Amino acid sequence: MHPPAPPEQVARGEQIFRSNCSFCHGSDARGGETGPNLVRDEVVLRDQRGELITPIVQNGIPAQGMPKFALSAADITDIAAWLHSQPLSDRGAPSTLDILVGDAKHGEAYFNGAGRCTQCHSATGDLAGIGSRYEPKTIQNLIVSGGGGRGRRRSAAAAPPVNVPPTTVTVTLPSGQRVQGDLDHLSAFVVALRDSNGAYHSFARHDSIPKVVVTNPLQWHIDRLPQWRDADIHDLTAYLVTLK
Ligand code: HEC
Ligand code: HEC
Repeated sequence: MHPPAPPEQVARGEQIFRSNCSFCHGSDARGGETGPNLVRDEVVLRDQRGELITPIVQNGIPAQGMPKFALSAADITDIAAWLHSQPLSDRGAPSTLDILVGDAKHGEAYFNGAGRCTQCHSATGDLAGIGSRYEPKTIQNLIVSGGGGRGRRRSAAAAPPVNVPPTTVTVTLPSGQRVQGDLDHLSAFVVALRDSNGAYHSFARHDSIPKVVVTNPLQWHIDRLPQWRDADIHDLTAYLVTLK
C-alpha cells in the first residue's frame, strides 16, 4: 500500500509528531488518553502522502477537542510518512487509561501559580462549573487545545460570561496611524473592528494596504502545546473536574 519513504523523512515526521501530536495520540500513535489510535485509523490507512491527513491537521476537529495546527503540508507529509511506516500489529494497543490520575491540590496550585492560567481564566468566573459541563476526558482536551473559541462558547447557554480576551486586530494605515480593537469582520476587501471606546471602524483593503495583524486569543494554548508536561496536565484535569 505505502512504498517506504526515505528514512530521513520518517525520522523528521516522528520528531514533528512527538512534539505536536503524541500528547493526545500517544508517543507511538497507538492511541493516548484522549486521542484515538492513528496507525489503524481508517483515514490514515487510506491516506497516501498526507493528502487526507493535511486538511484534518490544518483545520483541527474543534468539536472533539483536536486543535488546528499551523504546520506546513511538507511537515504533515513527513508525519504521514512516519505513521505509514508503523507496523499495523496490535502490539502496543492502549490499555484503558484512567484520566483522573492527577492530584487536584497540585493542579490548583499550578493553575494559580506557575501555570499562569489566571491571566485569562478564573475558577469562579469563566471556568466555574466546568467539572459538571464536561467529561474529564473533554476537560483534558480543552486544557490542551483551548477548545473551539468563542463561537462555540456563545452557543452554550449555561456557560457563564467569558473573561478571556477576544480576537483583536491592529490596522496600520499608510499614514502610520494605528487603529486597534476587537475584530468584528475580516474579508479580502474589508476589515472592521470596535475600539476600546466602543467606536466602530471599517477600512477597505487593497492587497496588503492597510496592514492588518490579527491576534488569535487561543494563541497561548497553541504556543504551549509542545511544552506540556504530562504531570501538569493530569493535575490540572484533576483540579478542573472538582469545579462543579
Ligand atoms: C488535544 C488533543 C489532540 C492533539 C494535540 C492532536 N489530536 Fe488528532 N485527534 C484528537 C481527537 C480527540 C481525535 C478524534 C476525533 C473524533 O473522534 O472524530 C483526533 C483525530 C485525529 C485524526 C483522525 C481523523 C479521522 O476522522 O479519523 C487524525 C488523522 C489526527 N487526529 C491527526 C493528528 C495529528 C497528525 C496531530 C499532530 C499534528 C494531532 N492529531 C494532534 C485529538 C488530538
Ligand atoms: C493568554 C490567555 C490564556 C491563558 C494564559 C490560558 N488560557 Fe485557557 N483559554 C484561552 C482562550 C481564549 C480560550 C477560549 C475560550 C472560549 O472558548 O470561550 C481558552 C479556553 C480554555 C478552556 C476551555 C474552556 C471552555 O469552557 O471551553 C480550558 C479548560 C482552559 N482554557 C484551560 C486553561 C488552563 C488550565 C490554563 C493554564 C495552564 C490556561 N487555560 C491558560 C486563553 C488562555
